Amino acid sequence: MTVVVTGGTGFTGTYLLRSMLSRDVGDVAVLSRDEPGKAHARLLSALEALGAPSAVLDAARRRVSTVQADIGHPGLNLPDDRFQALADSMTELWHCAADTTLQADPARLRRANLDGTRNVLALAETAAPGTRVRHLSTAFVAGRRREGLILEGDLDGSAGFENAYEQSKYHAEVAVRDWSCRTGRSVLVLRPSLMIPDGPVPAGAPSHQLASLVSLLARMRAVHRRPGAAPMTVRLPGHPDARLNMVQVGYAAEAMLDASTRMAAPPAEGTVTTLHLVHPQDTSAEHLWRLAAEHVPEFRFTLGPPPADPNFFERFAAKYFQPFLPFAWHRRSYDRSRLLSLLPGGREPGPPNLDFLFAEFLPTRFERRPVATAERLSPR
Ligand SMILES: NC(=O)c1ccc[n+]([C@@H]2O[C@H](COP(=O)([O-])OP(=O)(O)OC[C@H]3O[C@@H](n4cnc5c(N)ncnc54)[C@H](OP(=O)(O)O)[C@@H]3O)[C@@H](O)[C@H]2O)c1
Repeated sequence: MTVVVTGGTGFTGTYLLRSMLSRDVGDVAVLSRDEPGKAHARLLSALEALGAPSAVLDAARRRVSTVQADIGHPGLNLPDDRFQALADSMTELWHCAADTTLQADPARLRRANLDGTRNVLALAETAAPGTRVRHLSTAFVAGRRREGLILEGDLDGSAGFENAYEQSKYHAEVAVRDWSCRTGRSVLVLRPSLMIPDGPVPAGAPSHQLASLVSLLARMRAVHRRPGAAPMTVRLPGHPDARLNMVQVGYAAEAMLDASTRMAAPPAEGTVTTLHLVHPQDTSAEHLWRLAAEHVPEFRFTLGPPPADPNFFERFAAKYFQPFLPFAWHRRSYDRSRLLSLLPGGREPGPPNLDFLFAEFLPTRFERRPVATAERLSPR
C-alpha cells in the first residue's frame, strides 16, 4: 500500500505530508526532480521547520521514499520497469506538482501542468482500477470570471484567463475529466484558493506565493527612504470593493485529507468530484489596505481607474505588481457546499492572519527573514 505524491517537496506538499504522516497512510513515495537523497533531506528539513511532531518526523524517515522523476516527460522519465513497479505498488495518488510561476512561458507551463498531468494520469491508468486519484487544481481555473458565484462543478474557460498559469491548470482539469470519462476511473479534484501559511514562515520551510508581494513592498519602501514624510498615495487600478479568497494551507491540507477519506468509496465509476478548498469569507482589498497602512505607513494604497498621470511609485507598481494587478478587479466568491457536505461538522478555519505578511517590516515583532526574491509572482 503506497501513496504516491507528486509535488511533496513544495509549499502545499509539505503541509499535506505533515497531515498525511500524522494519519495511518502506509508508505509514501514522493516524486521530485531532485536526486532522491537531496529531495528526502529537503522534505525532512521542511517538516522540521514547520515544527512537525517527532512521530511525523519519524514516519517521514521510515515510511517516505523519494523517487527522481520529471512529470513533464512521458513515463515521468523513469525506466519502464521502475514506472511499472511504482504503478503496481500504488493504492492512492496525490498529484500536487505544478509549475506555479505565473509569468512563466506558456509552453513551459503547459508542459508541466497539462502534459505533466497527462503523464501522471498514465501512471494512474497503469495502476489497479481501484486506485484513488486526487488532483490538485486551483480555484483560479475560473479565470477572468471576475464577479458572481463560482460553483464547485463549474469548469468554463469562455471568459478567458488572467494568466497562462490559470489557463494551463484549466486545461489540466479538462484533461482529468476526459481521462475519467475514457477510463471509467473516478477522480477527486481539489481546488484551493490562494493558500497562505498559518503564521510566519520559519526559515527552511518552502516559501509561499505572497512572499514575493512582500518583497516588492520592501523594495518600494527602500526606494522611498523618507521615514516620517507624509504618506505617498499609490493609486492602483482595480475595483474599490475587490476581494480575494485566501485560505490557510494547514486547514486546506487537513480538509483535503478528510474529504479524500470520506470519498474513499467513489459514488460511481468515471465520476469527477470537484471541491472548493476556500475560506468561508473572502478577504477585502479594504482590509489589506488597512493592514498596509498600519505596517507600511510610507504609502497609502487605493483602488480605482488606472491613473492618467502615474507617479513614480504607481509606475513601479504597474511594472512589478503586474502579475497581481488583475486580481484587484475580482469580486467573485466560491461556493463550498459540496465540501461542507463531505465534512459535516468539520473544523472551520479562523480568520486569515495576515499580520505575518508584513513581518519584513516589523523586525521587532517577528523574527527577521531575508527578503525573498520576487521569482514567483502569482496568486495561484
Ligand atoms: N500555493 C497556492 O496558493 C496554491 C493555490 C491553489 C492551488 N495550488 C496548487 O497546489 C499545487 C501545489 O502548489 P505549491 O504552491 O505548493 O507549489 P510549489 O511550492 O511551487 O511546489 C511545486 C512542486 O511541484 C514539483 N514539480 C514542479 N515541476 C515538476 C516536474 N516537472 N516534475 C516533478 N515535480 C515537479 C516541485 O518538486 P521538485 O522541485 O522537488 O521537483 C514542487 O514540489 C499545485 O498544483 C498548484 O497549482 C497552489
